Amino acid sequence: MFLEPKESILNLNAYKPNFGASNLKKLIRLSANENALGYTPRIDKELKIENINRYPPQHSAELIKTISKINNLDQNKLILGNGSDDLISVIAQTFLKPGDEAIYTEYGFLQFPQSITIAGGEKKIAKDINFHVSVDNILKLITDKTRLIFLANANNPTGTFISKNEIYRLINSIPENVLLVYDAAYAEYIRNDDYIDGSELVEKYNNVIMLRTFSKLHGLAGLRLGWGYSNSKIINYLMAVRGPFSVNSIAIEAGIIAMKDIDFQNYCYDFNIKSMKFMEIELKKLGINFINSSANFILMNLSEHKKYLAKDAVLFFKNNGVLVREMNVYNLPDYIRVSLGTEEENNYFLKLLKKFITQNDN
Ligand SMILES: Cc1ncc(COP(=O)(O)O)c(C=O)c1O
Repeated sequence: MFLEPKESILNLNAYKPNFGASNLKKLIRLSANENALGYTPRIDKELKIENINRYPPQHSAELIKTISKINNLDQNKLILGNGSDDLISVIAQTFLKPGDEAIYTEYGFLQFPQSITIAGGEKKIAKDINFHVSVDNILKLITDKTRLIFLANANNPTGTFISKNEIYRLINSIPENVLLVYDAAYAEYIRNDDYIDGSELVEKYNNVIMLRTFSKLHGLAGLRLGWGYSNSKIINYLMAVRGPFSVNSIAIEAGIIAMKDIDFQNYCYDFNIKSMKFMEIELKKLGINFINSSANFILMNLSEHKKYLAKDAVLFFKNNGVLVREMNVYNLPDYIRVSLGTEEENNYFLKLLKKFITQNDN
């Protein structure tokens, strides 16, 4: 008889990003919320590939020091991961046993349910209101079995964030033995007094972990590097569960260089704001409804043009060399999520969108 996995894995599907090949040679990837501007040019100049016959440090003191200095954080409260995805699953494995409940939000990041299931926990979904996380709906789901609340702020795929007041209302209303996993993957794109990246919560509360990534504004998705910030007791538990060498030497070196290049970060931030404004104006001109986003992607609703579903649009874009993401897993068949690209890519996307709409409206 063939060996079966544990029960929670039996019906689990692998996470499927839309990275497939296009019919054309040139592929514009607007499907994974990456940084179209690339990464700091300093990496190509300064990164040395050396000592890779040696294991990487388990806990790179230099990268930890750089992160803590630039973000004004306590070094003892930091953990590095093989992308924040890695830390999401380490957190689920550390705190969930079968029967324990973990809450995530209706249009939340897909790795949350995946990690809860793999760990053997019970998934509880808090309904969003108008594509915004509802603190009340999260609170309604809390029981004495709740262990974790996964919250992406800003959220993927909606691009919306909830305010500082709402976050404080949430953290002040949950029991101390429930950990808030505050995923701030897009924090670098948001400079708004009403937004918090979660670090101040970690200083004030023992039951919060903030997650960050080098995959978005820093442009290092291919290297897999993320970090978490929480009280040192939680960090120590997570370090025991995390693979001892899960962060590789090259990612560590690149991360140090990227974190220090504030000019490149500002350049990407400014570009994102400018591109987002441009896209919003152009989408309005085309009569496309979208959710106002604070991140580097936009969730668009194509249902105004009733004759087609988003999956036809995804195929049309793919055949023309552009990858965008359909939202069927969220039961949003009329929506596509489109990452912002370079100026040229955004213009090409809009040109195609216009063509698609015109074709379908006639
Ligand atoms: C909300 C959110 N968290 C985490 C991640 C994953 O980041 P990483 O590449 O660090 O695993 C993403 C990537 O799309 C995301 O949208």
